Amino acid sequence: MSIRWPWLLASLCAHAALAQIAPTECSKGWEREPRTQSFDYALDIQPIWGQFCANCHVDHGGSPAVGLDLDPAFSYLNLVNAPDYSLTIMRVVPGDPEGSLLFRKLVCAQPGPAEGDPPMPLGRPSLATALQARVHDWIEAGAPLLLLRVHADGFETR
Ligand code: HEC
Repeated sequence: MSIRWPWLLASLCAHAALAQIAPTECSKGWEREPRTQSFDYALDIQPIWGQFCANCHVDHGGSPAVGLDLDPAFSYLNLVNAPDYSLTIMRVVPGDPEGSLLFRKLVCAQPGPAEGDPPMPLGRPSLATALQARVHDWIEAGAPLLLLRVHADGFETR
């Protein structure tokens, strides 16, 4: 094989990283919500997709928007450490909500990665700040499938 894939991949990524815009017009209302410490992905996060992201990413009849399938069997793998459609940014970077396209899409009017990319849920009202905060805290906690820290719940401020 004469093609050097690692080099090609590295240069593609470097180019893509330059093309990203910084997110702007991000709302901060979620910061006033109490911090969530414990997570069961199936009970605390997945139902948000089921309620607010149908019928584009959930129950989408086999063709999810930009290939982002958020049906229960696929959502975690399609979000966590998964690159976005344009291969410029990760959808969820465990531990880094502001660096995750998913969270930006929920709170920023200009979320990126490209100029003019729309916020989510597309064409619908923004999620309630309590739900935005829950997604934030879930990503910050490392985007776990299951994390039980019950005694800390509701006591810590941001
Ligand atoms: C009415 C249809 C619709 C709804 C509802 C919707 N989306 Fe989207 N979503 C789209 C379309 C179309 C795109 C591609 C446009 C773009 O670049 O953002 C997209 C893109 C995305 C992306 C970027 C994916 C990528 O790889 O580039 C994320 C993340 C996302 N949506 C999350 C959500 C979440 C979470 C919800 C629910 C809270 C939601 N969407 C609701 C249609 C929808």
